[in-house]
Amino acid sequence: MEKIRIVGGRPLEGTVRIGGAKNAALPDVCAALLTEKPVILHNVPEVRDIRTMGHVLGDFGADVEFKVGGTVEIAARKLTSVEATYELVKTMRASVLVLGPLVARAGRARVSLPGGCAIGARPINLHLQALEKLGATIRVESGYVEAQAERLRGAEIQFDTVTVTGTENVMMAASLAHGETIMRNAAQEPEIVDLADLLIKMGARIQGAGGSTIRIDGVPTLHGAEHHVIPDRIETGTFVIACAIAGGDIEVRNCHPPHLRAVIDKLRETGLRVEEGPDNMRIRAPRTVRPSDVTTVPHPGFPTDMQAQYMALMTQASGTSRITETIFENRYMHVAELQRMGANIRVDGNTAIVTGHAPLSGAQVMATDLRASACLLLAALAARGETVVDRIYHLDRGYYRIDEKLRGIGADIERFDQGGRRATDALPAAEA
Ligand code: EPU
Repeated sequence: MEKIRIVGGRPLEGTVRIGGAKNAALPDVCAALLTEKPVILHNVPEVRDIRTMGHVLGDFGADVEFKVGGTVEIAARKLTSVEATYELVKTMRASVLVLGPLVARAGRARVSLPGGCAIGARPINLHLQALEKLGATIRVESGYVEAQAERLRGAEIQFDTVTVTGTENVMMAASLAHGETIMRNAAQEPEIVDLADLLIKMGARIQGAGGSTIRIDGVPTLHGAEHHVIPDRIETGTFVIACAIAGGDIEVRNCHPPHLRAVIDKLRETGLRVEEGPDNMRIRAPRTVRPSDVTTVPHPGFPTDMQAQYMALMTQASGTSRITETIFENRYMHVAELQRMGANIRVDGNTAIVTGHAPLSGAQVMATDLRASACLLLAALAARGETVVDRIYHLDRGYYRIDEKLRGIGADIERFDQGGRRATDALPAAEA
């Protein structure tokens, strides 16, 4: 297992380039299952979850070609299998995104239930209820969901809870259904809009994506398309907080500031100076970080995927802040690791009370999930001495060479392989 070693205390300076959004590219790749024609995606991040999704589609008989520079070509001419096994789904919950497209195109799907994960129970009951409304017969047996339908038909779907991948699954399935589907209380994340844009290019009739009601008028077939995936707003936010916590002055390129409105507004409250351009931002760290409370909510509110990173920053604020997590019931696994580095945090129910000004010191810490891992890197940038983060495979699921990108803007950071050899030397330089 690889590790990352960071020596804290260096301000950041320079330019960092953001990649395509993992959580947009994952459903975009799955959308290619809806047509026998090729779908070409650009700006796809070269992260492990996308590779895994490529394998899932390959198992169904699709040709998936990863090209240099973030282009992926997918041609699902014929589906030879419609089963996503437990072995695959347990490594990546987002595999559940194949359910809607498979039932819609092949009339059948057998997909393992994902089970709980490091941040919560994360059931998929809302995906299944919605597919049933669209006319699919759902059976759950031996840990697998088996879905069948001659042809799906449009329906009115009211989600009890906002679900991102649930909204995406329905949007894909309803695109090939007979008649109109109306989804209410739909997720409004930019990733939903990105998927809708791709589906519309493929011939789907979708209105309202980005709002809470989405209307889909089903069509008999979809065709191929070429599409650029949106920039990753969570990677962007992670680098913005890196600058805030380490100090310095950086430029973040190839990002889309409006997708981060709630995060930017919150960080401005803490004293960060942010100059927004059309696809870039200049970030200047404050001398003193002010505390500010935050509650995670669905988009356009403050995202749960930035909660852990924000908590790292608040450990260095000039007072006490309260961070409330409302999306996932167990997303505080990073707290114990931050405490090992000297952070002063008390968890009360779903609220973390963070007392700032804690002098962090380097320690051996363990990554528990993707965003918790990012939070530990950020804390390490502010800590005195050396931090070693173990189990960084979590990080590589969703961040492309984050260690190299941080080194490119001045962080003292290195990756070591299992044998303790410096792994970073073997890799080509990341884009600045
Ligand atoms: N929920 C249900 N039943 C369902 C679906 C969801 O109870 O059928 C609950 C969940 O347990 C959770 C809440 O609804 O409490 C919201 O979950 P949601 O379905 O929106 O999450 P998701 O679609 O599984 C996506 C992202 C996550 C991100 C969340 C919330 C992808 C591939 N994943 O997950 O990203 O945290 O939305 O914004 O898009 C990450 O990138 O680190 C990550 C975890």
